[in-house]
Amino acid sequence: MGQCEQLLVVAIAATLLCSEAAPASAQVTIDTAALPPWHVPDIGTVADDAEGSTIRYGQRLFEHTSALIGPDATDPGKRYAGNGLDCKSCHLDAGTQRFGLPLIGVWERFPAFSARLGTVETMTERINDCMQRSLNGRALPSDSNEMQALQAYIRFLGSGQPKGEPIVGRGAPRLPLLNRAADPVHGARVYQMNCAPCHQADGTGVRYSPEDAQVKAQRYLFPPLWGADSYNDAAGMARNITAAWFVRANMPRGITFAYPQLEVGDAYDVVAYINEQPRPHKSGLEHDYPDVWLKPADAAYPPLLGPFPAEQHELGPWAPIEAWLRHNMPQERSDLRAAGDVEALADTKR
Ligand code: HEC
Ligand code: HEC
Repeated sequence: MGQCEQLLVVAIAATLLCSEAAPASAQVTIDTAALPPWHVPDIGTVADDAEGSTIRYGQRLFEHTSALIGPDATDPGKRYAGNGLDCKSCHLDAGTQRFGLPLIGVWERFPAFSARLGTVETMTERINDCMQRSLNGRALPSDSNEMQALQAYIRFLGSGQPKGEPIVGRGAPRLPLLNRAADPVHGARVYQMNCAPCHQADGTGVRYSPEDAQVKAQRYLFPPLWGADSYNDAAGMARNITAAWFVRANMPRGITFAYPQLEVGDAYDVVAYINEQPRPHKSGLEHDYPDVWLKPADAAYPPLLGPFPAEQHELGPWAPIEAWLRHNMPQERSDLRAAGDVEALADTKR
């Protein structure tokens, strides 16, 4: 059954919804000339005082997470992060890369409603989400120097922005959803051609020798995409829509959103392959999204809402799920769902 027929079966405005899904060969480009300027503040201009050294410590933690507050920390009491990734493994160029999940313009957004928590969350809690999921570790105490420093750095990242100028470039650019399910078998081929040269055929990345790791204060030259040292199954990157948007705009490393290399369909297929591989499991996932109406279509763990099998949440097609949700959810939930889009990666809503 084709997607449009499925949509008709659930009896909603098929024309509108079908126009949201795209063929796998779709090319989506961003008119860079139409974007407002992107301001990256210069860390070299930070004052040589207590506040300045806190900001610089925050940047070091951001780039050397596994060495300073992760499994390679010399003080075992400071081993909060649990894998070989650093914040900058995903928040590229130390959180300054436009559409590379930057943390420019993020400070001002918190506290913000979190659909995953079902309540408003603070910046401290948001950072600890990544600590416990993306970094597969435990929460940093809110009064620790490390939490204070990460926050000082994130606040600093917004300081280059002239007041009142819009910030466009947070998250990763939205892609249309496919009119078919993502195909992990084809994704494996995309992976071997485009990703394995750095992340390796077995996905475990390129790890430094113990001596080099110590000198560089980093575990990996190329970080692992799966296995024990990568993000866990509760991370944003473990959701295929979130991951596809990031990968299309930023991988293979070196490209930017302005000149993506993968076709849209290939981006969805390759992350479907990656996210099918083994990775650490976080317990208690059933407590995420206490209001299940606010759960993103690509969160494939129970409880699930609607008549769709878990596999469809994982691989899509997602447009019929989104359509079903929009059609069936109570009005006040749909307002909240829009507000909860802090979880979605782009400035545009999904
Ligand atoms: C494995 C990839 C990954 C790593 C590593 C990671 N994050 Fe994230 N982070 C994400 C993703 C993906 C999002 C987008 C939200 C989502 O859907 O989870 C995000 C969102 C955030 C946000 C909210 C951004 C916004 O636009 O609202 C903050 C703040 C943040 N991360 C901080 C950190 C910090 C600090 C670290 C290191 C301690 C870190 N992250 C490590 C993937 C990662
Ligand atoms: C030229 C080397 C290179 C290639 C090729 C490459 N990457 Fe990466 N990738 C990196 C580096 C380096 C990082 C970490 C960013 C940093 O530290 O600056 C990264 C980070 C990532 C991350 C987030 C961190 C993690 O470990 O989960 C994902 C997801 C990812 N890459 C997926 C892909 C996919 C999918 C492809 C193929 C389409 C790909 N990469 C191709 C070098 C590469």
